[in-house]
Amino acid sequence: MTYLGIDIGTSGVKALLIDRAGQPVGEATARAVEPVRPHPGWSEQNPADWWTATLAAVDKLAAAHPREVAAVRGIGLAGHMHGATLLDRNDRVLRPCILWNDGRSAAECAEMEAALPALRDIAGNIAMPGFTAPKIAWVRKHEPEIYARIAKVLLPKAYIRLLLTGEHVEEMSDAAGTLWLDVARRDWSDALLAVTGLTRSHMPRLVEGSAPSGALRREFANRWGMTGEVVVAGGAGDNAAAACGIGAIRPGEGFVSLGTSGVLFVSNDRFRPNTQGAVHAFCHAVPNTWHQMGVILSATDSLNWLGRITGQDPARLAGAAEAQFAGPGEEIFLPYLSGERTPHNNANARGSFVGLSHSSDTARLAQAVMEGVAFAFRDCKRVLNDAGTTLGQLIAVGGGSKSELWLRLIAANLGTDIAIPDDGDFGGALGVARLGLCAAENVDPAEVMTAPAIKRVIHPDASLADAYARQYERYRALYPAIEDARERAFDPAIEEARK
Ligand code: XUL
Repeated sequence: MTYLGIDIGTSGVKALLIDRAGQPVGEATARAVEPVRPHPGWSEQNPADWWTATLAAVDKLAAAHPREVAAVRGIGLAGHMHGATLLDRNDRVLRPCILWNDGRSAAECAEMEAALPALRDIAGNIAMPGFTAPKIAWVRKHEPEIYARIAKVLLPKAYIRLLLTGEHVEEMSDAAGTLWLDVARRDWSDALLAVTGLTRSHMPRLVEGSAPSGALRREFANRWGMTGEVVVAGGAGDNAAAACGIGAIRPGEGFVSLGTSGVLFVSNDRFRPNTQGAVHAFCHAVPNTWHQMGVILSATDSLNWLGRITGQDPARLAGAAEAQFAGPGEEIFLPYLSGERTPHNNANARGSFVGLSHSSDTARLAQAVMEGVAFAFRDCKRVLNDAGTTLGQLIAVGGGSKSELWLRLIAANLGTDIAIPDDGDFGGALGVARLGLCAAENVDPAEVMTAPAIKRVIHPDASLADAYARQYERYRALYPAIEDARERAFDPAIEEARK
């Protein structure tokens, strides 16, 4: 028997096959069309592109590993969170999906909180533009003819599940990021739904991530040569999926992810909100478990941006920064290129370089970018601590974790050990392949969600920690000063003309 994890990311889809012992036996990827930004701060993607990439990835896997794919008994789905996929009553997509990193709905967030003062208590989270419900409030106001035709709202992976199984189903970890879930009770909230004029009829049925959500349609089982009944598990939002992939389901276990966005993730045995600090408090993908996250919107995306505008490869920039590194630099970078979630909850925040001089070269700017991201994680740690959480050792995941310097900066700033896993698969696709195994074989998730072998642990360097304690205070002072200056320089006429 084998089990398939399908991870639907913003930039592509990864399909990973594991055997009954949880060992990877094959993988394939397919790129998706990149999100478009019709206006500054907006971000949209066509759901048909996820579907094309999903079919392409599994087709490739089936062509390369026909025998193993024939033995698939369970599938798990992971997806980028929060995206609003709007369907009419014939399950047709009504408009491009408004994605997790779209910041257009700040005004609607304020209106929703005013309309339901208990919103933060029930949802356990602040109304942030990244979440799903404010996007619907925006559609209601700006595209009323589309709003009137909404029959179902699905998150990205639930849309793929619909096409694979014919069922409208979502699981708890992703549902928690909609702002329609009563996160403590793991159920839709009628009061939260009413704020955006919706009811339970607009929502998919809820299951736990490790439970069955439907069966793969015969048409696709035949296409991929799968011979038996194939159960599709609830799966997980991409962060909970990554946690399952590294075995972080017990209290205090967590990871730091240096991907497009950055995530500081920790598992909890109970629901622990801290809305004041813009902590994300969500359900985990396994029963009776929750998790907290600090989310920063531009992690490797900040270095990618610097690479783009300087015409240099981001990995080379990181290497150049490492080669000349001698402690905190003069330049300071605020990584708010897409606004920020934790801790500022400000979609309109923008990035800055401060402290430039004639000696500032691309290597020094790259160092400042990596330090800025490390400081942003330090902000996240501060608000997780405020919520009563103590971080233990964190496992490093995501493309940026290939940079040793970046991990040293993060370890020194968080004051925690950062563990680097052995090369191999331990991401979201592995996490949901494991959930597929749990659902198909009725196995306890605790048996399957094991930690990867650790290659090396980076301990916080005491002298760097001292030097960065001072630099972090400078960094913290800059956000209010710069936002205040931008606020005063703000000219609504210029903003309007820019649109
Ligand atoms: C989490 C979040 C991101 C996306 C990225 O709240 O918005 O991590 O899930 O895929």
